[in-house]
Parts: sequence; C-alpha cells; structure tokens
Amino acid sequence: MKSKVKVAINGYGVIGKRAADAVSLQDDMELVGICDVIQDYRIRVAVERNYPIYAATDAHMDQMKAAWIPVEGVLADLLNQIDIIVDCTPKHIAALNREAYRQAEVKSIFQGGEKHELTGFSFVAQINYAQALDRDTARVVSCNTTALCRVLGALHQHDWIERARVVILRRGTDPWESHNTGMINTVIPEVRVPSHQGPDAKCVIPDLDITTMAAAGPFNLSHIHFAMVETKAPLTLDELRDALWDAPRIALVSAGNGVVALNSVIELMRDLGRPRNDMWEVAVWQEAMAVDEREIYLTYQVHNEAIVIPEIIDCIRAMTGLTPVAMESICKTDESLGIVREFLPATAQPVPHKFGPDVPHTTVEALEKARAEYESFSFKGAEEPSDA
Ligand SMILES: NC(=O)c1ccc[n+]([C@@H]2O[C@H](COP(=O)([O-])OP(=O)(O)OC[C@H]3O[C@@H](n4cnc5c(N)ncnc54)[C@H](O)[C@@H]3O)[C@@H](O)[C@H]2O)c1
Repeated sequence: MKSKVKVAINGYGVIGKRAADAVSLQDDMELVGICDVIQDYRIRVAVERNYPIYAATDAHMDQMKAAWIPVEGVLADLLNQIDIIVDCTPKHIAALNREAYRQAEVKSIFQGGEKHELTGFSFVAQINYAQALDRDTARVVSCNTTALCRVLGALHQHDWIERARVVILRRGTDPWESHNTGMINTVIPEVRVPSHQGPDAKCVIPDLDITTMAAAGPFNLSHIHFAMVETKAPLTLDELRDALWDAPRIALVSAGNGVVALNSVIELMRDLGRPRNDMWEVAVWQEAMAVDEREIYLTYQVHNEAIVIPEIIDCIRAMTGLTPVAMESICKTDESLGIVREFLPATAQPVPHKFGPDVPHTTVEALEKARAEYESFSFKGAEEPSDA
C-alpha cells in the first residue's frame, strides 16, 4: 500500500477549515498542519481538533503565541514536511505564495479566487481529473464554476449543448462574516456581461458555448442558478433526468416534499446532521426541470461554502498520483464525506398508483393536496397571474 500523502492547508477560513476536516477523513492522506495569521475563535477550533498550527510569518507566530495559540512553527517549516499544500487564503494573497511553494518543491492547489493563469490548469473532478495527474500546481475552480461544470458537464458529455445561458444569484456574504459585510434590501447586478463564471467554466470545458449573468442578493445560505440550455436536438425529461442522475455530485430535491427554497434545502442538510449544514452536491429542483423542442430549463442550488471540498480532495489524489482513475477517487471521496445522489432514499419512491379513478385512497389524496400546497409557494407574486 502507498504511504499517505502529506497535506497542509494554508488559510483556515470558510474553505480551509472544511478542506482540513475533509483531508483528515481520508485514509490515504495525512493532515500535517494548518497555517493562518489569526488568533480568534476560528483558529482556536483547529486547536480543539488537535490540528498542528503554523503561522504565516515569525511576526504572526509571536502574535499567535502571545494569544495562547500553540504554534509549531512558520509556513516555511510546514513546507519542509509535506508533499502538497492547499492554499485557501483570500484571493490575491494566495498568488503571492506560489513562488514559495515552487522553491520548496511542494505541489500546490489554489482556489477559484485566483486567476486560471496562476497555475494554467483549472480542475473539476468529473471533467478533467486525468489532466491533473502528477501536475505540480492546479486551481480548483470557484463554487459557481464548479456547479456549472457539474451540471452542464453532465449534458455536454452527451454532446447535447448548442448554447447555454445561465443566470446566477449569488449569496451576499458568508454566514461567519455577515455582521461585517452583509447587504440588505438590494440586489447588486454584475455590470459585466458575461459575468466571469461563464468564461471560467470554459477553462475547464473549452468547447462549452456559455454565457452567464450574475447578481448578488441579501441572503447568505447558498447561490441559485437558472440555466436555459439550447440543445442540438429535442430531449425528453427522462433523458435529462438520467443524465443528471448518472453524473457525480448532483442530487434532485422536490418542492412537493416541502423543499421549496434555499432555506429548506439547508434545513434539510441540518436535519440530516451534516457538518456545518454542508451540501457538497448540487441540488436540482425536480419540478423546475423542463424541456421543449429547443431548450432545457434547470434551477439548482449551490452551497458555496461546501461544493468545492470534494473537488479539492480529488485534486490532491490526482496530483499526487494516489489513483489515476477519476471515478475511483470520486467514489472514495464521496463515501468518506457522505455525498449522496438521493437525500431521502427511504421515502424516495413515487406516489403509489391509484387503482382506477373511482377507488378512494385517502392517504394518496392527502399527500397530493399537501404537495400542491407546497408547490404553490413558487406562485406567490401578487402582481402576476397565477394558478393558485
Ligand atoms: N467562501 C466561498 O464561498 C468560496 C467558495 C469557493 C471558493 N472560494 C475561494 O477560496 C479562497 C478562500 O476563500 P474563503 O472564503 O475561504 O476566505 P476566508 O476569508 O474565509 O478565509 C481565508 C483565511 O486565510 C487566512 N489568511 C489571510 N492571510 C493569510 C496569509 N498571508 N497566510 C495564511 N493565512 C492567511 C485568513 O485569516 C482566513 O482564515 C478564495 O480564493 C475564494 O475565492 C471561496
């Protein structure tokens, strides 16, 4: 058996703390340490988890030690002990670390806040795992770009897409910093078209014809995408459903089950006991899937804090050659984190048949009534006509 790959995380924030936990769960990886510059509760949780702590510089180490954080050394000390580093520091800061990693001959993974050009390679496991094999450096794309590649990649691999257009509503801020940077009572459009996510997706799927438009709003649970995809030939709903089912890390949710909004999807993650309510999968609304003779229509939720975590784990595996087979890594990662295709498998069966129109079936009728009530949530606008 191969020895464990030695991994460090630089930047223990929204992505870094989740990446550290995910690395710790892998039986073929060892978390050698995490590095940061802070002294507050966030890094103290890492101490509680017994993660070895390192500071970015000597000055940060002095400050952290003065605040009773047990620090083992500085970044340079950490680099001496590892095979690969996952840089999760804020955008632009990460790029400054690239040279230090190169000089220490340590492989490096950067996040979506950095430009594609920093590493020359942008990663999404289900699309280009093989190209990451044994690379020295790579960038795991952003949350939105990961979702675009997963969902559109599932269609693109069948050569169905003529042209994709996606509207992205982004969360205003992350929950941990919403006291600081939360917006209220507004929606801020990106004033550049296409927004950067479309071109970014083409770094991963170069022949994807895609245009994105984006805006940020006063919510912090997730992003939501509305995709309109022109197809080369008409598709059926069943073909669309099958293609999404066959692709990794996509799960369907149903408004008919009361999962009617961003908050209900995250509440479902809470109820399922997920760490930090994380949803690593893209959640596609069953009822909002539609096809016509020219296009596919999809609405899906992207939990920005969590979606890239399995991609980071697969990227480590590819770059360090732990396995050359994408699906082997994807399945291993999914099993370790608890990633599923169906959130509620025990009750996922469709409503049972009635045996003829005259047969009373009170349970089914009650269920259908309840479903109709939930589905009516999406037709609330007072100024538009509605069926409800
Ligand atoms: N937040 C998201 O939803 C999200 C989703 C996908 C990708 N990303 C990308 O992940 C990267 C990190 O984003 P984040 O949201 O986790 O940021 P964050 O601000 O939550 O975390 C960054 C961490 O890096 C630390 N840090 C700052 N300077 C440092 C330095 N010089 N050395 C070591 N640590 C330092 C900070 O103290 C903080 O703990 C960015 O590229 C971002 O674009 C973020």
